[in-house]
Amino acid sequence: MAILITGGAGYIGSHTCVELLNRGYEIVVIDNLSNSSKKSLDRVKEITGKDFRFYRDDLLNKAAVEEIFRRENIDSVIHFAGLKAVGESVEKPLEYYYNNITGTLVLCDVMKKHHVKNLVFSSSATVYGKPETVPIREDFPLSATNPYGRTKLMIEEILEDLYNADHEWKIVLLRYFNPVGAHKSGRIGEDPRGIPNNLVPYITQVVIGRLGYLNVYGNDYNTPDGTGVRDYIHVVDLAEGHVKAIEKIMGKDFAQNGVLTYNLGTGRGYSVLDMVKAFSQICGKEIRYEFKPRRPGDIATCYADPSRAKEELGWTASRGLMEMCEDSWRWQLNNPNGYDDA
Ligand code: NAD
Ligand code: WQD
Repeated sequence: MAILITGGAGYIGSHTCVELLNRGYEIVVIDNLSNSSKKSLDRVKEITGKDFRFYRDDLLNKAAVEEIFRRENIDSVIHFAGLKAVGESVEKPLEYYYNNITGTLVLCDVMKKHHVKNLVFSSSATVYGKPETVPIREDFPLSATNPYGRTKLMIEEILEDLYNADHEWKIVLLRYFNPVGAHKSGRIGEDPRGIPNNLVPYITQVVIGRLGYLNVYGNDYNTPDGTGVRDYIHVVDLAEGHVKAIEKIMGKDFAQNGVLTYNLGTGRGYSVLDMVKAFSQICGKEIRYEFKPRRPGDIATCYADPSRAKEELGWTASRGLMEMCEDSWRWQLNNPNGYDDA
């Protein structure tokens, strides 16, 4: 039996493939490579010494998804595939709704037809909107401030409806905080196209000289140093969270639990300037930055209460800030142009 990984060539997907293969799971990957490179999967094979089948297909192509379920012996799915850039989603809402929501509907429809009802879904801390307090618990009110966030919220609701209609579904929603870092080998990592939107790839590109300086968006937040505070989590910790989620679904105690939701975060917040300082230390270089106005839609502070994942999945993030920075840096240094260097 195999686990189908949608979006498996992407940043979090490729790291999850490694952790699953290392534990002896069989996997099959579908990805349209709209935001990734096939080289990431070649490197997953190289790191693990294991082989698996890859289908370069779009989730929107129902016939292609059907064909995969006909050919492969799939018993569960981890669903990463989706568009994820907040700013772009404001400019291209239809693309985001179509890709993320229709892609999920097609996937679930084909799963249902083939009696595959085990699903782990990539949600996001963005579904908490502007939380009134921190740390954020799973039972906090949900809202979205942009089309990307709304796709996550809508998909969570669609999956709840699916379970309500048919209790054979076993669904885990994983709400990630801020994934950073890379595999220790320095062979796979985050490879954003164009100028990065997220803090860590922006910083590493400043350090290698691809970008001139970091824009620090806002230094007047109500935080210890005035800059935004986030819960950065090592991508390998996150990948291990998916292994635990799949094992939970396969376990006997899942039955009748409904849709399970877990925060995947460390429970610790670091500011933008904390991150700059940590990277400077790791790279041995000063990082140039300039304060700029707040970025629209940003909140001051966001970090998880990860205790539910600890109690119910037996999962905690074990990698600290320095390891996150070291591993991000090794990936960037070895691959200054991402997978294009290969
Ligand atoms: P990513 O862009 O690296 O990976 C997503 C993958 O999905 C890409 O390889 C892309 O080519 C593929 N894809 C997109 N649409 C597809 C389609 N219609 N058919 C087939 N493949 C398709 O992103 P990531 O950072 O690895 O994120 C994975 C998931 O986690 C996404 O759903 C994202 O929204 C979610 N998430 C990411 C973050 C983050 O900060 N990285 C935080 C919270 C949640
Ligand atoms: C972190 C901090 C910025 C860039 C986003 C999505 C969220 C989730 C994770 C998918 C903030 C500051 C950033 C820069 C900066 N993705 N910053 N200069 O905004 O917390 O979350 O990614 O689900 O939905 O919104 O992450 O890395 O963009 O920003 O000062 O060039 O760094 O203001 O305080 P964010 P981020």
